Amino acid sequence: MPDRPAAPALFGSLERQQPDALLAVIAMHRADPRPDKIDVGVGVYRDVAGATPVMRAVKAAEARLLASQSSKGYLGAEGDQAFTDLIADIALGEPLARDGRITGIQTPGGTGALRLAAELVAMSRPGSTIWMGNPTWPNHGPIFRAAGLAVREHAYFDRALGDIDFDGVLDGLAAASAGDIVLLHGCCHNPTGAAFSAAQWRALADLVAARRLVPLIDLAYQGLGDGLVEDAAGARKMLAAVPEALVAYSCDKNFGLYRERVGALWVQSAGAATSLAVRDTLLTLARSLWSMPPDHGAAAVRTILEDPALAADWRAELAGMRDRIGAVRARLGAAHPALSPIARQQGLFALLPIDPASVMDLRERHAIYLPASGRVNVAGLRDETIETFVTALVPYLSPMA
Ligand SMILES: Cc1ncc(COP(=O)(O)O)c(C=O)c1O
Repeated sequence: MPDRPAAPALFGSLERQQPDALLAVIAMHRADPRPDKIDVGVGVYRDVAGATPVMRAVKAAEARLLASQSSKGYLGAEGDQAFTDLIADIALGEPLARDGRITGIQTPGGTGALRLAAELVAMSRPGSTIWMGNPTWPNHGPIFRAAGLAVREHAYFDRALGDIDFDGVLDGLAAASAGDIVLLHGCCHNPTGAAFSAAQWRALADLVAARRLVPLIDLAYQGLGDGLVEDAAGARKMLAAVPEALVAYSCDKNFGLYRERVGALWVQSAGAATSLAVRDTLLTLARSLWSMPPDHGAAAVRTILEDPALAADWRAELAGMRDRIGAVRARLGAAHPALSPIARQQGLFALLPIDPASVMDLRERHAIYLPASGRVNVAGLRDETIETFVTALVPYLSPMA
């Protein structure tokens, strides 16, 4: 047999990738021996003691599951449908949760919901364009591009004002074509904290409906902004205004279930008959993406929502988390004029009005850790550290703000 030429190594074409900027910050913080170091980088809720606890209702639900679960047999590609229907009541409310034009399935976290949404769009209309504000959660672009969508950006945030550049949003979306997808953060914008007002949601719903765009609402922090109902109001308004829409939902923050990967995707289509085809397609796509979503976290959420006492305790603890975030925001906002927008914003995140060189300086001189973007997780601050943080930060802020 003549020798065949050796095939080039399969993986030889791969290149090193940039490490995730946030993970790099977390690792540097961990390695820093200074005792008074502060981590405002990592994107999870922290309590007054700096811990990310398992919520009381989740612990109780997990104990019940441990005692009562008699099988780990497979569910279907839809996951735990009772979970999805119960969380629909909270996310979508009546009457949308019972609307025959809307179908939903469980997904592995909000990330899975976004990826499934992207795949559904790509299958429905290959080469579709999705618009997103700048800045947005850094994983948004890669998720949509991975599914073959074209990503276009519009303005979102005026860093000098610390507020939404709403004219920029409207101008940007004026370039969108009928059928394009528009990604909107339902509440608690990551990374800016700047959420649309009720009037802005109304204007956006009018624009999206008039231009026949398709909204994809990323609702990853419901209840951590102004309240469970308040945080979903924009999404509900949008769904009521248009025939077709998608809602990608995460329970990973509002139930503190991060690594359990709990989410859902709902799709609203023009009618009940189309909805059946949408559902079939979601299940087919899920089958090839992850076969079925992980069960444990969704089962815990279902157990909580099926029990009025556990559900009330979850709501109470969530309200406490929201209040703590609000209290830190109020203190930061009062500390310096340049930080005052933080008190008007919501959720875990804010973009500090400082440049990457200042971020580096804060890290080296003061052991304060955040990514170069200037994004901080306000829940990373505690009563004992907030003063130190502000004192270190003030020299880098513009006094004229
Ligand atoms: C805006 C936004 N959407 C979606 C997600 C995804 O959340 P999950 O951990 O449930 O995948 C995140 C997580 O940080 C987020 O910030």
